[in-house]
Amino acid sequence: MSDLPGRFRELWDGIAPVGRDADSGGYLRYALTAPELRLREWFRAQADHRGMPVSEDGNGNLFAWWGDPTGTRDSSTQDRDGPTRGGAVLTGSHFDSVPHGGAYDGPLGIVSAFLAVDELRAARATPVRPVVVAAFVEEEGARFGVPCLGSRLLTGEIDVDRAAGLRDAAGVSFAEALGHRPAGADPALLGRFAAFVELHVEQGRALVDADAPVAVASAIWPHGRWRFELRGEGNHAGTTRMADRRDPMLTFAFTVLAANKEARLRGAHATVGRVAVEPNATNAIPSKVTGWLDARAAEPETLHDLVEAVQAKAAERARRDGTALTVTPESTTPLVAFDGGLAGRLASLLAAPVLPTGAGHDAGVLAAHLPTAMLFVRNPTGVSHSPAESATDDDCAAGVVALARVLEELACH
Ligand code: GLV
Ligand code: MN
Ligand code: MN
Repeated sequence: MSDLPGRFRELWDGIAPVGRDADSGGYLRYALTAPELRLREWFRAQADHRGMPVSEDGNGNLFAWWGDPTGTRDSSTQDRDGPTRGGAVLTGSHFDSVPHGGAYDGPLGIVSAFLAVDELRAARATPVRPVVVAAFVEEEGARFGVPCLGSRLLTGEIDVDRAAGLRDAAGVSFAEALGHRPAGADPALLGRFAAFVELHVEQGRALVDADAPVAVASAIWPHGRWRFELRGEGNHAGTTRMADRRDPMLTFAFTVLAANKEARLRGAHATVGRVAVEPNATNAIPSKVTGWLDARAAEPETLHDLVEAVQAKAAERARRDGTALTVTPESTTPLVAFDGGLAGRLASLLAAPVLPTGAGHDAGVLAAHLPTAMLFVRNPTGVSHSPAESATDDDCAAGVVALARVLEELACH
């Protein structure tokens, strides 16, 4: 087969309009909403087209199998003698997006995985273990608040009752959106996988600087989300004397500045990208402000110190403002050091640089349970979680070739 960039574009164009907001050019592909459900249908159609049976686990994650899901024989009609042994090699990513997110974060890993299967078949590669393409549910946590929800459930990293009861902005629970209570940890399914390799668009500029199309990941910074709830006294903007106010917006504003300063002092990252104000009226002092802190650092100790410092400063300011502060951790992800042997092996196979990242991924959750690696594809803008995220068709094709080589290395020997 030839013209891989052209075949990438053709497949990509099949999903490009789904969930795209005409005004921002970004994507609104929240987990289990209409656009993401359409992408899941697309996934099933692509798998079907390739003779790959699809299974859905009890948590909303989809798996398309090249090779018999029982691991005993190849169920595809297109192969001479397909995968026969267990210990499947898992690849794939997620379809869901952040609000007005980019096109590539997530879907690139799934589209590339199907094309990598095509490449291996065209080269008449003979896998001895199944190759499985996954679409994990609710990776961004944009709808239900907890990122990597599907992989956390599969691996037992989140309590099932808590996950089932997570609610979106309209009050719909995860269990209701899924149509049933999530099943939680599935050691039998997890035990069928020998390795996971997630391909992802790079979310920074390291590959631009390195002048390379593809990298291998070394680590994911520890990170988490903390909800800061600030309560004060709602009152009239025109009649309440400045000295008499208990305004949680002031405490919130100070907290945002403190988060920025404390992160800078430590070489860490802190972001408050979401805020909810009650009653949210121009002429009323707010009664309540809720802000979500996203904090990340290279070392767990630095992250811990950062969050403690922000919390202490917010509490001190709340005392001065006469407001009340409650801080609730919503999700935390420890430092992920990807399997060093696997990363080194793939980096030399691909002659690719090795990079750490501050972004979270399902691969980070699965890494605690099976040998896991990630490939990054160059992003010329270096921007992500924004419509400005990008990747050229040539680099996406280079990513497919790299992924196919990795799958060949892991599944064919
Ligand atoms: C996911 O993209 C994250 O890093 O929050
Ligand atoms: Mn993302
Ligand atoms: Mn992602």
